[in-house]
Parts: sequence; C-alpha cells; structure tokens
Amino acid sequence: MRIGVLGSGDVAQVLASGFLKHGHAVTVGTRDSAKLADWAKSNTGGRVGSFADAARFGEVLVLAVKGSAAAEVLRFAGADALAGKPIIDATNPIADTAPVNGVLKFFTGLDESLMERLQREFPQARLVKGFNSVGSGRMVDPAFNTGRPTMFICGNDDGAKRTVSGLISELGWDTSDMGMAESARAIEPLCMLWCIPGFLRNEWTHAFALLKS
Ligand SMILES: NC(=O)c1ccc[n+]([C@@H]2O[C@H](COP(=O)([O-])OP(=O)(O)OC[C@H]3O[C@@H](n4cnc5c(N)ncnc54)[C@H](OP(=O)(O)O)[C@@H]3O)[C@@H](O)[C@H]2O)c1
Repeated sequence: MRIGVLGSGDVAQVLASGFLKHGHAVTVGTRDSAKLADWAKSNTGGRVGSFADAARFGEVLVLAVKGSAAAEVLRFAGADALAGKPIIDATNPIADTAPVNGVLKFFTGLDESLMERLQREFPQARLVKGFNSVGSGRMVDPAFNTGRPTMFICGNDDGAKRTVSGLISELGWDTSDMGMAESARAIEPLCMLWCIPGFLRNEWTHAFALLKS
C-alpha cells in the first residue's frame, strides 16, 4: 500500500521504517525535512515531503505528531487529502505539564478524547486509534516470549478498521477492536498506564496483551 506518515518524531520514523520493511511505499511528512535527513539516508526507499505531500501520497495515513498539534497538522494536510482514507491515529493528548508521581497529565477529560475531536473536525477522514499505548521501540515486530501483544483499536468505520488491523498484524500485533470513536476515551489513557513503569522505574519495554478464555 502507499502509506503517508505525518510526523518526524520517533513514532513517525519507526512506523515509516517498519512499513517500508514490510513492503509498503512510504512518504513521511513534516514542516522541516532537515529533521528527517538521517532517516532518509538509512531508508533509501522512502520519501520525505510536507504534511500535504504525505497526505496526498497515502492510501492509508499515520498521524504521529504532538497531540496538541494534531488538528493543525491535519489542517496543513488538507481535508481533501484526508477524505475517505483510514488514518492510524497514534497521538495522545499529553499536556505540557510534568507528570505527577509518574502519571501523565492530559488536556482532555474522561468524557472526551483527542481522536473524537479530530473526527468531528474532519468527518470525511476515517480515523482509527492505534499505536498510542506502546513505546516506539516496540511498535514494529515486537518480540515477547509470551506471544504477540495486543493493539487496542477503535473508530467509526469498519472498513478502515479492517485495513488498519491488517497493517498492524503485519507489524507483529494482534488487534482488539474496542468499538467506535468514543472508545478512544479509554484507549488514549492506556498511554498513561504504559508510561508509569517508565517514569517510576525506567522500564520502557513492555506492551499490553488481552487474555481471553
Ligand atoms: N514516543 C513514543 O514512544 C510514543 C508512543 C506512543 C504514542 N506516542 C504519541 O505519538 C505522537 C508522536 O510522538 P513522538 O514522540 O514521535 O513525537 P512528538 O515529539 O510528540 O511530536 C513531533 C511531531 O509533532 C509535530 N509538531 C509539534 N509541534 C507542532 C506544531 N506546533 N505544529 C505542527 N506540528 C507540530 C512535529 O512536526 P514537524 O515534523 O513539522 O517538526 C513532529 O512531526 C504523540 O502524540 C505521542 O503522544 C508516542
């Protein structure tokens, strides 16, 4: 598939490299392509452009930018370039204040999520939450003795969730569909839970798995 990755940080770079490794065509978008110069050198099959370039290029998009900038980045990308496309939303609404005893602060409340805000502003986009509650170092081909970890996803469009589940599965995960966009109210805070062992004990290599009988 053609995948447009919006972002230049760790998540964007790791997922862009992962999708290239698994045989997809990738364009990464940023305001400042210099930030991706090293990535481009070691990922010669990938391309770098603006947010709008990456959005136009992708049949599927990945949103991997600072949570507070996510809406602005989608505006840069342009509503027309987003329309009808599955967008894997890896963002978290992390506030610009320090964690308290290892617990991150969010700029959203319990009865709303960042993904719902984005979905409301861009109704033609088909947002699917994913990759928000694991560290970038474990996003691609995670290896655990106990088996494949679980990626919790949600979104309003079943077709988009099927497409995204297929891609996430290629990267080594089981997916668990947690329902509609409102379920992002529960999935986004998993990022808080995931980070606590990191902030308290410098443990950053775990992932969540859903056990079923
Ligand atoms: N780091 C992790 O392990 C991890 C794991 C799971 C989820 N997440 C989530 O994934 C997202 C990306 O995380 P990250 O650590 O890779 O990167 P990040 O430092 O949170 O974000 C960097 C990206 O945000 C964009 N950005 C920042 N301020 C902006 C503004 N004012 N206007 C437009 N764009 C702006 C940057 O754009 P430019 O490229 O133009 O500079 C860059 O692409 C975040 O929402 C984070 O919560 C992170």
